[in-house]
Amino acid sequence: MKMARGFQRFTDRSQVFTSLVPAEARRPSKDCGTILYMERVSVSFDGFKAINDLNLFIDMGELRCIIGPNGAGKTTMMDIITGKTAPDTGRVIFGERTDLLALTEPDIARAGIGRKFQKPTVFERHTVFENLELSMAGDKRAWSLLGAELDDADRDRIMEVIGITGLSDVVDRDAGDLSHGQKQWLEIGMLLMQDPLLLLVDEPVAGMTHQEMDKTAELLTSLAGRHSVVVVEHDMDFVRSIARKVTVLHQGSVLAEGNMEQVQNDPRVIDVYLGG
Ligand SMILES: Nc1ncnc2c1ncn2[C@@H]1O[C@H](COP(=O)(O)OP(=O)(O)O)[C@@H](O)[C@H]1O
Ligand SMILES: [Mg+2]
Repeated sequence: MKMARGFQRFTDRSQVFTSLVPAEARRPSKDCGTILYMERVSVSFDGFKAINDLNLFIDMGELRCIIGPNGAGKTTMMDIITGKTAPDTGRVIFGERTDLLALTEPDIARAGIGRKFQKPTVFERHTVFENLELSMAGDKRAWSLLGAELDDADRDRIMEVIGITGLSDVVDRDAGDLSHGQKQWLEIGMLLMQDPLLLLVDEPVAGMTHQEMDKTAELLTSLAGRHSVVVVEHDMDFVRSIARKVTVLHQGSVLAEGNMEQVQNDPRVIDVYLGG
């Protein structure tokens, strides 16, 4: 049972890369190339181009911030990557050669792309530990396994994720009783149970206190390296606190890209943000 599940995930993910290699060797490393590229992608809704000839490249293990005014196409971009929206034209490639446009939403998730939506969707009447346990298998079998004896590797992974997400003090608390910030971290933890290669996070700090924002910054920063992380966020103080490379989206295309300072001083970006 355990073997079968592990093997299943392994074979699913191996499609992303050309050969079967040990798990650790598959981890992104700095010079391992591109994890995602979107090339000349466009999509229209009723004649309105929400995404317009978009080119975007994400490196293995990088933490990328995507900013841009409302309606710039940030969420639509994530919808395209995760298979929720089909673009009219363009290519979207994951890893070396996985054509995401040929895959269904569940297959894209299985290939190693996790998405955190704005609103946390934890199982309120289960504990933090159980939530992580349930998200481990990612299917209905998990429910029948709940409460069954976990093997050491699974328990270790759950405890590792609890450590990463800083939820050690609330392991046995019902998710419904957590603070807003803790729920968000738990949901990130649930995504981590699938060990995604690429993690997409849409507006993670909306509604958070400053203290929670700081913890979230620390968490997302710590995930880069092992995972590639793409963060869409409006809060510029937050972006500044985690930013390495920043992409500014405007009218469905990349307006500017660079470090925070370059982007902030770009006249086109200033124009867009300060109402030119
Ligand atoms: N399913 C849809 N149908 C029609 N219009 C949409 C749809 N999804 C997004 N849009 C439009 O596309 C544009 C980009 O939206 P969105 O990707 O949500 O922007 P952002 O996340 O950057 O604020 C907006 O003008 C929005 O109204
Ligand atoms: Mg949005």
